[in-house]
Amino acid sequence: MTETTTTRSDPPDTSGTPLLQASQVTMRFGGLVAVDSVDFDVHPGEIMGLIGPNGAGKTTFFNCLTGLYRPTSGQVMFNGAILPPKPRKVVQAGVARTFQNIRLFANMTALENVMVGRYCRTSSGPLTSILRGPKFRREERQTRERAEELLDFVGLSKVSDNLARNLPYGDQRRLEIARALATDPKLLLLDEPTAGMNPQETRQAERLIFKIRDQGLAVITIEHDMRFIFNLCDRVLCLVQGRPLVLGTPEQVQSDPRVIEAYIGTGAEAEEDTAEQDKEGPDA
Ligand SMILES: Nc1ncnc2c1ncn2[C@@H]1O[C@H](COP(=O)(O)OP(=O)(O)OP(=O)(O)O)[C@@H](O)[C@H]1O
Ligand SMILES: [Mg+2]
Repeated sequence: MTETTTTRSDPPDTSGTPLLQASQVTMRFGGLVAVDSVDFDVHPGEIMGLIGPNGAGKTTFFNCLTGLYRPTSGQVMFNGAILPPKPRKVVQAGVARTFQNIRLFANMTALENVMVGRYCRTSSGPLTSILRGPKFRREERQTRERAEELLDFVGLSKVSDNLARNLPYGDQRRLEIARALATDPKLLLLDEPTAGMNPQETRQAERLIFKIRDQGLAVITIEHDMRFIFNLCDRVLCLVQGRPLVLGTPEQVQSDPRVIEAYIGTGAEAEEDTAEQDKEGPDA
């Protein structure tokens, strides 16, 4: 078994064909351009970060990559083919995701939640399921075994029989990742995977994502926690008002004044305004 990498010391080879390539993806809602001409690619084994202030279009961009939205214009290629704008077909093509607001089956156990993720890869039709023949029973056993392996992989073996709604928040996030992995993806999209986690849980999530990358998957993660993003990602794209602002290594992105301004711009401008007013006096 290969040892898990816990740092991003070995940048992946990005000279080949990207696994996913988004070209000029645009998503309009009436007069609002939520995603504006975004080019983006991710290579096998790469961890990409997507950052930007609230409302920048990050989740909308994910929705365009996963078939929830059909982009107003632009194109998404995945594994050499145009990605069909249908969530089920996107999953079958090898793209899985988690959601900003956790979407688990609350009244199912952790194990059952992961088994549901697996069903997109099983072949039993309704008739086989009703008759519960040998093929169905074999597939059901394999599904259960794989789900147990995945719960172990994300560190949730001990709670496999607990109802999802009774799990602590951090465990629910990991369970969503296990369910996404059950679809056998080549690319995993994570929308704010550490939101609401304490620092210890966040470090644990970082290690889990490195472990997923070490299995050969590519990962794109949205996050507001910059320490998490810069520790983890090979490259980072910063979106502002739907537009790509900066794309580069964590070092390039974190030292770029435009990124700093995008996050604290309004605060800095407000301070400047106050300083100007102080200089000019209250009657100016
Ligand atoms: N279905 C929709 N209909 C209309 N407007 C939408 C829809 N979905 C998103 N928007 C708008 O698009 C913009 C981008 O929203 P989005 O949720 O993608 O931002 P985000 O970067 O994920 O923000 P956050 O960091 O707060 O999650 C926002 O102005 C939002 O109100
Ligand atoms: Mg969002």
